[in-house]
Amino acid sequence: MIRAYAWLHNTPTRKLAILLGDQKEVIRMSETAQPQIARTTPCSVLVEAGKDYFWCACGRSGNQPFCDGSHKGSGLRPVRFSAEKTEWIWFCACKQTATPPFCDGSHKRLSAGS
Ligand code: FES
Repeated sequence: MIRAYAWLHNTPTRKLAILLGDQKEVIRMSETAQPQIARTTPCSVLVEAGKDYFWCACGRSGNQPFCDGSHKGSGLRPVRFSAEKTEWIWFCACKQTATPPFCDGSHKRLSAGS
């Protein structure tokens, strides 16, 4: 699987383009939209091949790491992840990752208090 991530800066909105294989998601975020930290550790989830998952980007969901619709009005939108195979995935729950929806270790900075 090819995974590529790129930040695109546009005025007045920021766009985050996520490429997962041949799929593309573009997230538009307002300059002021900031996610809440849902947890300071990632969530390990066994995903099933062929299923779509919607990762919570705002941190407000009560169903971490997935969306429960609580993002409405936050300026943030969930990120779709389509599982190509059944496997364990570490999903980010701190919402600080640079590689959404996956944990990139950014939560360690939060745990260290910096
Ligand atoms: S839980 Fe967010 S980067 Fe690890």
